[in-house]
Amino acid sequence: MKNSLLLHGGVGSESSLSALLREYAKKAFDNKSSLKSVVDATVMMEDDPIFNAGTGSYQRIDGTIQMDAAVMTETGFGSVIGVEKIRNPVKLALDVMQKTPHLIMAGDGALRLARMLGYAEYDPNTKKAKDQREKVMSELNSNEADKNPRFTALKRMGDISKLMQPEDTVGAVAYIDGAFAAAVSTGGATPMLRGRVGDSPIPGAGIYCGQKGAVVATGYGEEIIRHMLCISVYNDIGSRRLSDILEDKASSFEGPVGLIAIDKKGFSYFSSKPMAVGFISSETG
Ligand code: GLY
Repeated sequence: MKNSLLLHGGVGSESSLSALLREYAKKAFDNKSSLKSVVDATVMMEDDPIFNAGTGSYQRIDGTIQMDAAVMTETGFGSVIGVEKIRNPVKLALDVMQKTPHLIMAGDGALRLARMLGYAEYDPNTKKAKDQREKVMSELNSNEADKNPRFTALKRMGDISKLMQPEDTVGAVAYIDGAFAAAVSTGGATPMLRGRVGDSPIPGAGIYCGQKGAVVATGYGEEIIRHMLCISVYNDIGSRRLSDILEDKASSFEGPVGLIAIDKKGFSYFSSKPMAVGFISSETG
């Protein structure tokens, strides 16, 4: 397998965005480092308000924005949970991996670490996020809210609407110079309570990387965590075609789900709804 980088813009993202992701992949592709490639690609997607990560992250029900991100290599892991008021959560996840003795940092401690490392205060809020929350809140008050079994428990709390926003999460996987890496970043899967944590920052759930390959997921975090989706895919790598593994693993999902993966033989992606992807390799350019 040639040096390769594969990105996704979240399950539910319009396939027409694939051309943009291909441009991001081209810019981020670093023929020497899979880790640098996946982080740089994810930063570009975080900075693009089209995507639900970094700038453009969706609001929680209370109107706040809390973001999750993670990076993983064959030997290292770093993630941040519920981080606020920084521009690039994936960079902070990388710093957790490379500059601290920890693997996962959350909430105010993660923010304190960010400030200690010089991350400037930044508001990732956009008109898209405000409009989307307004829509969620009006759905909450409509009769339609009772029709969605997924959120029955939350509806009983009086805090949730029926509206589920499938576009979520950006991610990247790479195999470069004989090493795999993965990165993921998300503003979460709306509607969600403040403090809710999805799959993205949890190793094995929304991200996994090892000597056999790298895998990143997108979709409803709760469902992905229940299946420990990425390690489940990873464990099967080598047993059959990568595309068959992805399809098998995602087929039992009720909600929208997407996967991208790379192994020593090639790459594959699967999604139950449209999903923008971008790919580049040293062979195809
Ligand atoms: N897949 C992102 C989330 O559920 O938070």
